[in-house]
Amino acid sequence: MAALPTFSLIALIFSFLVVFSTVGGHNITEILSGSPDYSQFNSYLTQTRLADEINSRTTITVLVLSNGAMSALAGKHPLSVVKNALSLLVLLDYYDTQKLHQISKGTTLTTTLYQTTGNAPGNLGFVNITDLKGGKVGFGSAASGSKLDSSYTKSIKQIPYNISVLEIDAPIISPGLLTAPAPSAAEVNITGLLEKAGCKTFANLLVTSGVIKTYESAVDKGLTVFAPSDEAFKADGVPDLSKLTQAELVSLLEYHALTEYKPKGSLKTNKGSISTLATNGAGKFGITTSTSGDEVVLHTGVGPSRVADTVLDATPIAIFTVDNVLLPTELFGKSPSPAPAPEPVSAPTPSPAKSPSPAEAPSPLAASPPAPPMDTPEGAPADSPAAAENSKAGNAAGLSL
Ligand SMILES: *[C@@H]1O[C@H](CO)[C@@H](O)[C@H](O)[C@H]1NC(C)=O
Ligand SMILES: *[C@@H]1O[C@H](CO)[C@@H](O)[C@H](O)[C@H]1NC(C)=O
Ligand SMILES: *[C@@H]1O[C@H](CO)[C@@H](O)[C@H](O)[C@H]1NC(C)=O
Ligand SMILES: *[C@@H]1O[C@H](CO)[C@@H](O)[C@H](O)[C@H]1NC(C)=O
Repeated sequence: MAALPTFSLIALIFSFLVVFSTVGGHNITEILSGSPDYSQFNSYLTQTRLADEINSRTTITVLVLSNGAMSALAGKHPLSVVKNALSLLVLLDYYDTQKLHQISKGTTLTTTLYQTTGNAPGNLGFVNITDLKGGKVGFGSAASGSKLDSSYTKSIKQIPYNISVLEIDAPIISPGLLTAPAPSAAEVNITGLLEKAGCKTFANLLVTSGVIKTYESAVDKGLTVFAPSDEAFKADGVPDLSKLTQAELVSLLEYHALTEYKPKGSLKTNKGSISTLATNGAGKFGITTSTSGDEVVLHTGVGPSRVADTVLDATPIAIFTVDNVLLPTELFGKSPSPAPAPEPVSAPTPSPAKSPSPAEAPSPLAASPPAPPMDTPEGAPADSPAAAENSKAGNAAGLSL
């Protein structure tokens, strides 16, 4: 009976999923949800997806503004500016009240989330913390000549050395922060950015298929693009795209984008299957994620792909490069199952897609060997979902050869 081993495999995979999904163990939204006074700040952390970024990190300090102090930012500025301003309030070090008062020589510069975004010129992503006379602690931009316009008021919550949440009385404003022009989503040249990022093949496919129009019309409501590099299209196991019907090619290209803004922090904290532009029914054409250290790995059910570089992260659009072409099971393989298929079968299973999608017709591509097992991202634990998926891919390859 294969029932028991299958069950324990499923249990094993689930236990790994649990480990993968509780990175930092804290939830800033929940921490702040008890205080109506932080409702605006909390709402902006969610809107900008900074909450996910905060939850995916440890050893951090979040400087929180009450609704009164938040009004200096909220409403008057585009979301991109608010996001930068709030990123400057996320310190990449752990400061509780005691540590604030024990800063050596009474003053220090600390790096913030803003510095990691690549949007902060020079040292504008650093914050100056100074222990002032009379027990007051001041915060200001690290830019020379900046004043310490913001002061510590009280502690909100500490989970020692993971996250400290402190209230300050005013935003920290670095030079140019509030006057930065909002990138207009309509002005983002997706194909231009993709070409520069080494994804020329993908950009050309988007243009020749017309799918670029679908991407562009999704931008306003949020768009995340996973662009395979030119190398990815040349890799072994990539199906011959010229054998795809037009409808299949469209589905494949739509599969490489999400209809929501999901920056890296959100991918890291993601749970469950994410819908793509190709999704045409519950659970169809979805992508799942896992993390390995700071890396995010996408899983299609056919094979994994590492999220390589961030080409653009400008609310509401994010563009990433990925190492492999994302092959949906609806076009290229068996339906995903929670455990690797235990028995080798001798004939390829027809795609189970029940949609008007072209996958109804047995696709010639189903016979193409999926990505080889050596695609496992470096450092991924042998028993990770990625590894399980690889063995599934290996089985699928066995089926079709
Ligand atoms: C702190 O974060 C680590 C992961 O980096 C986690 O294992 C630990 O449980 C967290 N501590 C608390 C008190 O939540
Ligand atoms: C964090 O807490 C909020 C509110 O309690 C909840 O809606 C959200 O799903 C939580 N996020 C995670 C990643 O658990
Ligand atoms: C922080 O700012 C204060 C006041 O401008 C300044 O005196 C101090 O040198 C700064 N600290 C650092 C580490 O640059
Ligand atoms: C986008 O960039 C490409 C490549 O740099 C260029 O050929 C094209 O004209 C640009 N499109 C727009 C609308 O600016």
